[in-house]
Order: sequence, then C-alpha cells, then structure tokens
Amino acid sequence: MTSILVLNGPNLNMLGSREPEIYGSNSLAAIEKICRKRAKELGIDIEFLHSNHEGALIDAIHDASEKVDAIVINAAAYTHTSVALMDALKSVPQPVVELHLTNTHRRESFRAKSYISLAADGIICGFGANGYALALDAALGLIDAK
Ligand code: DQA
Repeated sequence: MTSILVLNGPNLNMLGSREPEIYGSNSLAAIEKICRKRAKELGIDIEFLHSNHEGALIDAIHDASEKVDAIVINAAAYTHTSVALMDALKSVPQPVVELHLTNTHRRESFRAKSYISLAADGIICGFGANGYALALDAALGLIDAK
C-alpha cells in the first residue's frame, strides 16, 4: 500500500493552545485525525510523527527512506534554520512536500526564508489544518507522476 510520512517539528505539539489567533484551534491530535480521514479516502497509509528535536526528525527521515513513498513535512521553526534537515531531505529519494499552517510569506521576514524549500518538490502554506489534507493529495500526485 502507498505510504506517506507526515513529519511535524518543534512546538506543533502545542497546537490548539499555542497562539490560536495565528495557528487556529486544532490540536495536533485533531490534525492527525484530518490526515487519517483523508488517507482513508485516498486509500493510502500514513505515518504521523512529531518531535521537538532536530536529530529525531533527521532520524525519522533516514528511517523513512526504506519505508514510505513520500514525505510531507511541517518543519516549523527548523524550516528557517536547519541546514541539517534540508540535507537529510536531500539524502532520500522520495518526493517531499513542504507544509505550513500559516502563509509564512505574510509574516515576519525571517519566516520567508526556508531551507526546506531547497529540498522540497512543492510547498503548501496558508490553508491551516486543511493544508495537511491538501499536502497528502499533492504528495500522492507526485508519487503517481514518478
Ligand atoms: C509553521 C510556520 C513557522 O514559521 C513556525 O515557526 C511554526 C509553524 C506553520 O505551520 O505555519 O512553528 O511551520
């Protein structure tokens, strides 16, 4: 069965209570439910992971290289700082969809810079929790196009 890794970076475990006026009221658990529902509709499997630790996210990307067909990643603040995460994504053959709840280009200027974009096939940002469902659709499109 087609399988997609959905990887979530630092502070996303605080969704729901974290700056809800910016990130919305959905918790990460609610977002996982949205992903599982969409995955079921698409007939695919997902692995949904979160870590606050850069190295753990890198390990998850390396592990995924054997197991999944695509990677969807909301690297959160590491998006703007982590050459190591970018290198990890470049080291695996799967298509990569970069994802953000918010439109990072309409926020502070430091959020417009993304290292992840240099390793991503495409980017979805600004659609809130629904962006996760859109990212699964996009990732499946990339797998099918391969
Ligand atoms: C985010 C945007 C990042 O700039 C921020 O650091 C996050 C979340 C988003 O989903 O909008 O933690 O990736």
